[in-house]
Amino acid sequence: MTSLIYLNPTFYNITMRLIYGKSFHNRYESIASLIPENSTVLEACCGDCYLYKHYLLPKNVKYTGLDINRSFISSAKKSRINVIYNNLLSSDYIPEAEYIIIQASMYHFLPNDVDFIYQKLFKATKKEIIIVEPIKNFSTSSNWIIKLISRYLANPGTGHATQRFTATTFEEFCYRYSGNLKNLFKIANGREMCAVFHKSIEKTN
Ligand SMILES: C[S@@+](CC[C@H](N)C(=O)[O-])C[C@H]1O[C@@H](n2cnc3c(N)ncnc32)[C@H](O)[C@@H]1O
Repeated sequence: MTSLIYLNPTFYNITMRLIYGKSFHNRYESIASLIPENSTVLEACCGDCYLYKHYLLPKNVKYTGLDINRSFISSAKKSRINVIYNNLLSSDYIPEAEYIIIQASMYHFLPNDVDFIYQKLFKATKKEIIIVEPIKNFSTSSNWIIKLISRYLANPGTGHATQRFTATTFEEFCYRYSGNLKNLFKIANGREMCAVFHKSIEKTN
């Protein structure tokens, strides 16, 4: 059954503000600073499209969001945002874009499908993939509300995501694609790690 935090975008947004506190805005600002004006952007697992609405729209990007959550999709459509219902695991259709972003969502594909998703997104990007993941384990937080949310309320309708990246496991994942890794750094006061993979430095055998 879909978890509470995924029931509607407003509830999701409140939860994210609660979890990230003062770092909430920085998690979006840091990504937006990597996206040039007027570029094409695909956001996989776009959630409530907060990044687009507040940080990418003013940059006049041509945006497409993909998500499996019908409530998020229908709410975004009401706001006239270009979103598509899409199960990233099973769908063969990933629209091309210069920049592809996936934030706080790769953990849904742990442990067996993260490479499959990376390769799918890499194929669809014309320039860069930006992968951002939480690296602090909120399920061991001393705040019981945050602990509860992290442990039990992370089911978008496809099953509970029980695993998370740590800084070490996320770095290990990124270094598997070191030939394309352009940059790796922490954002949101060290709560998330951001990896930028560049298409043009792809090695050919
Ligand atoms: C923690 S939210 C992150 C949302 C947004 N990127 C953010 O950072 O606030 C994870 C998102 O991944 C979506 N999701 C999970 N599994 C998915 C799948 N198989 N295909 C597409 N979207 C998926 C969920 O519906 C949810 O919107």
